[in-house]
Amino acid sequence: MNQIINARLRGQEGLFNIKWEHGLFSAVELQSSRVEGRHSPDDVIDAGGNLVIPPLVEPHIHLDAALTAGEPSWNLTGTLFEGIELWSKRKAIVTKEDTRSRALRTIRMLAAHGIQHVRTHVDVTEPGLGTLKAMLEVREEARELVDLQIVAFPQEGIESFSNGRSLMTEAVEMGVDVVGGIPHFENTRDQGVSSIHFLMDLAERHGRLVDVHCDETDDPHSRFLEVLAEVTRVKGMGAHVTASHTTAMGSYDNAYCFKLFRLLKQAELNFICCPTESIHLQGRYDNYPKRRGLTRVPELDHAGLNVCFAQDSIVDPWYPLGNGNILRILDAGLHICHMLGYQNLQRALDFVTDHSARTLSLGERYGIQVGRPANLVVMSAESDYEVLRSQACAQWSIRGGRVIMRRREKEIEWS
Ligand code: FE2
Repeated sequence: MNQIINARLRGQEGLFNIKWEHGLFSAVELQSSRVEGRHSPDDVIDAGGNLVIPPLVEPHIHLDAALTAGEPSWNLTGTLFEGIELWSKRKAIVTKEDTRSRALRTIRMLAAHGIQHVRTHVDVTEPGLGTLKAMLEVREEARELVDLQIVAFPQEGIESFSNGRSLMTEAVEMGVDVVGGIPHFENTRDQGVSSIHFLMDLAERHGRLVDVHCDETDDPHSRFLEVLAEVTRVKGMGAHVTASHTTAMGSYDNAYCFKLFRLLKQAELNFICCPTESIHLQGRYDNYPKRRGLTRVPELDHAGLNVCFAQDSIVDPWYPLGNGNILRILDAGLHICHMLGYQNLQRALDFVTDHSARTLSLGERYGIQVGRPANLVVMSAESDYEVLRSQACAQWSIRGGRVIMRRREKEIEWS
């Protein structure tokens, strides 16, 4: 294959012919009319008027914990904290091969849905960092399917876990792409604040990106986002910093949020919302009315801040479901966040493509433009709205000009 005909591109009128050479896009040309696919040579894909998009992105997942739900037991309270407790038991018996095979199986699930860029958090609160070593190998092994960014994630804290700081430093020296954190889980507020200063300095010193699990709780007093945003503003690192979850923002009062948003706009950091995971884990201590436990996605978006959706978990101690399909998360997210207005439906894919790519700082490595890597996905519907409404799927996934996935849907036969 070296070209696609009858491709519809997001936000543009007409049909396009997209070509590539030596793994890079070489032409994106508007067709004067629809081309009859059956007259085309075998090396041409006929998109049939359907949408062709840059690959879908998974900006926040935990591949090292994936496919472990129920081991050693199921999370019965459905809380974040029971999940952390169960994972702590499961990781005591984890092996390199165990991590490697589960991560690769999960990556295949993601790639089967048109995802080619993945950011995974890897637990580094583990003496010896065996899991991280396994995941660094997976990053290389999986290259034909996805670009994998690895976050050094201190699941049990930086300040609250023994040798937490040195484990984080070692992880960065071993070659992680991103520095993580979990300030709301540290034992005290002071530790949460100092963990943010530590991780931001570490990232700045080593030229790494930052992605912090921040205020993943319904506690309205969990206010580490303001600390992360202020340090980001002062250091001028906004494009390289992401706040994941920030679910406490769903419980902040409006007066505080009004002040907070002023700072967020100055800091210009990125946000990731994990709607299925958060609606499952949060609100667990509420009676009725029960909070949704999500961050303020439409408000962040309206304020001009970059916000995207992620899966977070696939069959792990925190969330028992998941099949790798980020469009399922988009569907749930737009419902839960009251974002089914007409305007949002027209641009729904922003939240799982362009916005996510910006969060991952993909820059010129992403997008259907001449000279960029020939990575794309052909969908089974012709617009953002129809992708969402019809629960469309990725039919072709092309990476570096090579077909890596072709999905053949079963057709309905009426009797
Ligand atoms: Fe997470």
